[in-house]
Amino acid sequence: MQANGSIFIADNDVKTRDLVSAFLTYQGHSIVCPEQETPFFDTVKKYNIDLVIADIAHLQTIAPDFLEQSASINPLLVLIAYGSTSREDLIMTSSENVFTLSKPLNLDELESLVMRAREYQTMRLLDTSAAADDQHQALSLTMVGKSAPMRDLFDLITKVAASNATVLIQGESGTGKELAARAIHQLSSRNGKNFIPVNCAAIPDDLLESELFGHVKGSFTGAYANRAGRFEMADKGTLFLDEIGDMKANLQVKLLRVLQNREFEPVGASKSQKVDVRIVAATNKNLEELVAKRDFREDLYYRLSVIPITIPPLRERQEDIPLLIHAFLARFNSDKRNALKGFSREAMELLCSYEWPGNVRELENLVERLVILKGSGFITPEDLPEKYLSGRAPARNTADELQAGMPLPEGGICINSAVDEFENRLIMQALNRTGGNKKEAALLLNLKRTTLIEKLKKKNLAFGEE
Ligand SMILES: Nc1ncnc2c1ncn2[C@@H]1O[C@H](COP(=O)(O)OP(=O)(O)OP(=O)(O)O)[C@@H](O)[C@H]1O
Ligand SMILES: [Mg+2]
Repeated sequence: MQANGSIFIADNDVKTRDLVSAFLTYQGHSIVCPEQETPFFDTVKKYNIDLVIADIAHLQTIAPDFLEQSASINPLLVLIAYGSTSREDLIMTSSENVFTLSKPLNLDELESLVMRAREYQTMRLLDTSAAADDQHQALSLTMVGKSAPMRDLFDLITKVAASNATVLIQGESGTGKELAARAIHQLSSRNGKNFIPVNCAAIPDDLLESELFGHVKGSFTGAYANRAGRFEMADKGTLFLDEIGDMKANLQVKLLRVLQNREFEPVGASKSQKVDVRIVAATNKNLEELVAKRDFREDLYYRLSVIPITIPPLRERQEDIPLLIHAFLARFNSDKRNALKGFSREAMELLCSYEWPGNVRELENLVERLVILKGSGFITPEDLPEKYLSGRAPARNTADELQAGMPLPEGGICINSAVDEFENRLIMQALNRTGGNKKEAALLLNLKRTTLIEKLKKKNLAFGEE
């Protein structure tokens, strides 16, 4: 993650400003308070501000030219705006670096937008650093990821694309094997020619040979005319042999021959045909195991896996999950005005700790479904299907644990919920000690009384009447 800049809170309502400031400071962000006399953009430059959280009316007073100026001052600057929705505001909300919130502020939603802003900045940063390198550009347009395994994968794809070598892509279902195959083609010198996919599992065995190699008229019942096969269509381009692990033994032999000699015979033809194709194969089966069981030819396996690429399952690259969620959110939102704004922290944590057996495809489908069904506002755990909720933290621990100093459990802990829980217990202890007097409890906690009240509201911690 890049080091983030500071957050500028622009609101002339001191109560709101303090509440937001305290909340975000507590979350570990660096906050800058406005300097009355200094022009807005001078403060932005001076304190390396890359996120402005503002009451829209106030921002229009202190920086009426915000949208025109911000990009030239800091292209990564993001605005989270709240307040009224005048015509000017609506113009603002159509910018991709502006997120909006309604008032009264919901701190959970604010936090979710701060997270989205950070993700947006990371994506922009990845795009800009990749743009310096033309080879990386096409990749960053299609494949989202910033985790170490994905960065290694991007490097490998870029290198492999420059060669003509046969590639074997392995990985669980939905990890992005086809996307990687397409990226290899796009980044190669063959990109002006065809990328031809063949799903070896979807085509019936008796048709696959003719599908791959074509046939001549009259070679079998129903062959009324000569027909080109996928190899011929992919000439000078790339042939993507998907689900190669499902190919039957007799065709494996024929494929091996093409890989060795770069020539093939259409079904029923007496002469062979030369072809110049780059082969990329993929499977979600373990080919080595199939070879050991003699279900897949060993010689073909070695011919295919000149360059083996393995795409890791999503559960092994958790840090890509929020990035993917926001990328899909932006994609599925793109043609809607009142679109889904983001995910509450708890919902995002649940999705990050989920196993994702269907990998990126499952995640993509979930976001699409949520955009359609919910359509606006923020996704909370209540909006998620049951199976995503299993990682939910247990309700609460005993007070003794707090005194014992909260040991780290064997299986690890969700730090955000733990900190939240810790905070709840300190607040409840302070209120108990002061007999429910919020002013005194706030003093004990070194908080403003209003901040404490807001916290209680946000956390749904009921404690006496206001
Ligand atoms: N890194 C990624 N960034 C953005 N979208 C991705 C990424 N990885 C996968 N996807 C999307 O997830 C879906 C599944 O990807 P793809 O079809 O490439 O997976 P696959 O490994 O071929 O799956 P299967 O084994 O089921 O055929 C596609 O819609 C693809 O666009
Ligand atoms: Mg696939």
